[in-house]
Amino acid sequence: MKRRIVKSCISTLCIHGWYVPLFLLMLGVKICLLSLIADSIKHYHATTSGKYDRANGNENAIIKPQKHKRVPTSTSPPENVVAEIPDNLMDLDISPSAKNRTSSTSIWLIYNSVPQCLEETSVELMETLSVQNRFSHQEHEYQTPWPRFLLEQEQESLVSWFQYQHLPRSYNRHFYYINFTKFQKYAKQKPIYVNIVRDPIDRLVLNYYSRRNMSSPLTKEEIERRNSVAPGSGTEWYHRTFEECVLQADPECRYTAGEKSFTLMIPFFCGQHNSCVAINDRWALQMAKLNIEREYSVVGVLEKMDQTLSVLAKFVPRFFHGAAQVYSKLVKKVEPQHKVSSDVRQVMESELYNEMELYRFILSRLSAQHENG
Ligand SMILES: *[C@@H]1O[C@H](CO)[C@@H](O)[C@H](O)[C@H]1NC(C)=O
Ligand SMILES: *[C@@H]1O[C@H](CO)[C@@H](O)[C@H](O)[C@H]1NC(C)=O
Ligand SMILES: *[C@@H]1O[C@H](CO)[C@@H](O)[C@H](O)[C@H]1NC(C)=O
Repeated sequence: MKRRIVKSCISTLCIHGWYVPLFLLMLGVKICLLSLIADSIKHYHATTSGKYDRANGNENAIIKPQKHKRVPTSTSPPENVVAEIPDNLMDLDISPSAKNRTSSTSIWLIYNSVPQCLEETSVELMETLSVQNRFSHQEHEYQTPWPRFLLEQEQESLVSWFQYQHLPRSYNRHFYYINFTKFQKYAKQKPIYVNIVRDPIDRLVLNYYSRRNMSSPLTKEEIERRNSVAPGSGTEWYHRTFEECVLQADPECRYTAGEKSFTLMIPFFCGQHNSCVAINDRWALQMAKLNIEREYSVVGVLEKMDQTLSVLAKFVPRFFHGAAQVYSKLVKKVEPQHKVSSDVRQVMESELYNEMELYRFILSRLSAQHENG
């Protein structure tokens, strides 16, 4: 009996003994992988902790547009082919299409959310979907302000952080579009880009009142700062309505062509170029249209949420299958209502003509995708 057990033990070891070196090898590989992951987390923290001064962009962080020689004949290159900026970009008539831009192999999804577009709800949607669609959602920590323009090195870190993600993962943060092709040596794949916008004037109204929020320490600081310069002016600033601000042509509500603004939606699609934040800049508008048409799978619209959810589910099923059902059950954030007369709206629409044009472009692309998807 005893001998038989010993014998079977020996034979087990003989047959299965090869496990031992293999096991040690795997252990080594595992340790190696763990240190790589630790490295990538370090990378990630480097990219997620930005200083406040760059929340509004810093000259050094801005990459100048580059000149390119080759002229592609169409705005729709096949997958994995480098999409260059056409030389005739300024004259190009970029029309929205229903083309499917979702890469069939990509397991990364980027939602570079535009603020004041109910993004908290969209993030909740993704977190809920991540369970049933089996991916993980990486939310940027919202505690500190962070730059929308990223230093070239930070872009590189973010791209290489994705390189360490071997399982489907979505990522959300307010930042201007990053061209992954530029950092091809760090990440071979391109992510799936999505976004959700809303009527540009409604957005600006919400943005205006979010700066006048007594629960926020920034508002109190601003009132005190103004009061210390001219007594009473801070309080006046706080109580002024958006309409008054527009009609009095106060600098806070003026959008002068060529000046910089970090609150508009165009830069989120235009990208990491200096000209992207220039108000009503034609190059920025064209770049934003080009990136939406070529690089974004879906850009949804809050006013067309049913269409948005259906298009997301059809064009990016890997992440958004079942989105409409989940969304209908979410508790939506109640937004404060601020009335804006049609006169004031008209003033703003004619001042921000590029924002309006991009918004209409996004609306017609979404409806084309809805009809053909
Ligand atoms: C992205 O980067 C690639 C490689 O540097 C470049 O050829 C292309 O023009 C860039 N595309 C955009 C839209 O900036
Ligand atoms: C778009 O492409 C993705 C990835 O290949 C695919 O899963 C999806 O079904 C496509 N959607 C449409 C409407 O063609
Ligand atoms: C006001 O600020 C508080 C605290 O920062 C925040 O939770 C709340 O959502 C803000 N409200 C609006 C309308 O922006």
